[in-house]
Amino acid sequence: MLRGKNIILGVTGSIAAYKAACLVRAFVKKGAKVQVVMTPAGKEFITPLTLATLSSNPVISEFFSNRDGTWNSHVDLGLWADVMLIAPASASTVGKMANGIADNMLVTTYLSCKAPVFVAPAMDLDMYAHPSTQQNLNKLRSYGNHIIEPETGFLASGLEGKGRMSEPDDIVKVLENFFSSRKELQKKKILITAGPTYEKIDPVRFIGNYSSGKMGFALAEACAGRGAEVTLVSGPVSLKTTHPSIERVDVESAEEMYHAAVRIFPSCDVAVLCAAVADYRPERQAPEKIKRERSEAMSVSLVRNKDIAATLGKDKRTNQTLVGFALETKNELTNAKEKLQRKNFDVIVLNSLSDEGAGFGYDTNKVTLIDKYGRETALPLQSKTEVAEKIIDYLVDACPQMQPVEVT
Ligand code: CTP
Repeated sequence: MLRGKNIILGVTGSIAAYKAACLVRAFVKKGAKVQVVMTPAGKEFITPLTLATLSSNPVISEFFSNRDGTWNSHVDLGLWADVMLIAPASASTVGKMANGIADNMLVTTYLSCKAPVFVAPAMDLDMYAHPSTQQNLNKLRSYGNHIIEPETGFLASGLEGKGRMSEPDDIVKVLENFFSSRKELQKKKILITAGPTYEKIDPVRFIGNYSSGKMGFALAEACAGRGAEVTLVSGPVSLKTTHPSIERVDVESAEEMYHAAVRIFPSCDVAVLCAAVADYRPERQAPEKIKRERSEAMSVSLVRNKDIAATLGKDKRTNQTLVGFALETKNELTNAKEKLQRKNFDVIVLNSLSDEGAGFGYDTNKVTLIDKYGRETALPLQSKTEVAEKIIDYLVDACPQMQPVEVT
């Protein structure tokens, strides 16, 4: 996807600048041409020589490279690029970009750039959380720039929190998805539910399940990569999304997931319900931590949660497609077909726990797709990313709501 693409990589003054070397290397390996533009502060963190060597291109950081009157044209550079990526983007550069403070080569290039712009912020947690930074990032979003959210983790300051630049591999994936030529889902709105739900017993305990959310997240990335606008309603998971066309709605309980899904579904063409929703929740949540000393044994009375799938199946319009998942431990096909009918799915994806390497927690999965006419399509064991692509291929072929629309 990146072969032959011209990429401007803006590098600013952040400790994460060392990761720019990995980015340049990955882009070059994928066949892209890279022009690095650095701010003066960026050069304090990684040498231009390293990035020039890796990109086989002199690094630009000054308006005037020589004292002979020749100068670096930010306008030409802006026109040359297929994409501009600023990684790492410091708070200062984000602020300058948001407010048009063109006092260095990077920001002038940004202002001249007609290509899509991606920004991967990297800074300390308090700087990132500051309203000024957030306002600047929102301004960049409003200009149509794509923000690659930083991660939560260990920071150079020794503190832990949100502000760590997204890993180079993930940033590369974001650009690859962006340039993916398969845009057959453009103009489609897709709702995906993913992950487990947690049902609170008391402030520190819950009933949950082993779902990792990997399958749902892979589906969200696959749909967004093909041009869809995706809303991903996710239970508690430790995964992150990379594609800018995925809007993420984080929920905890089945009740919260139900309300989010019911609100979002009417505006969608397709819903794929991948979440492992708890069927029951404690009837009462103890307001304080339940103490061990109080009794020898305890029981928790459970009440049934609403069935999100059945509700959406009942409300489904004829121009909407509903796809469910089933995880069965016995009578798999019979149970899955019964579920498909009961919940009014158009297609159900059957996971089998009996297959080695498939199901909760694994990076691989083996599924069988069953449509409302009872037709079965078995897919081989493969990575969840590949399974997601195959499921989308199948849905694009089989479901009218997934057929490409003419984009003018
Ligand atoms: N599902 C849902 N809301 C629920 C329960 C399930 O949306 N409260 C969805 C799941 O996301 C999945 C499908 O329904 O797409 C089947 O989930 P599963 O747990 O297998 O079905 P249940 O109806 O809970 O059946 P059982 O637990 O009896 O197998």
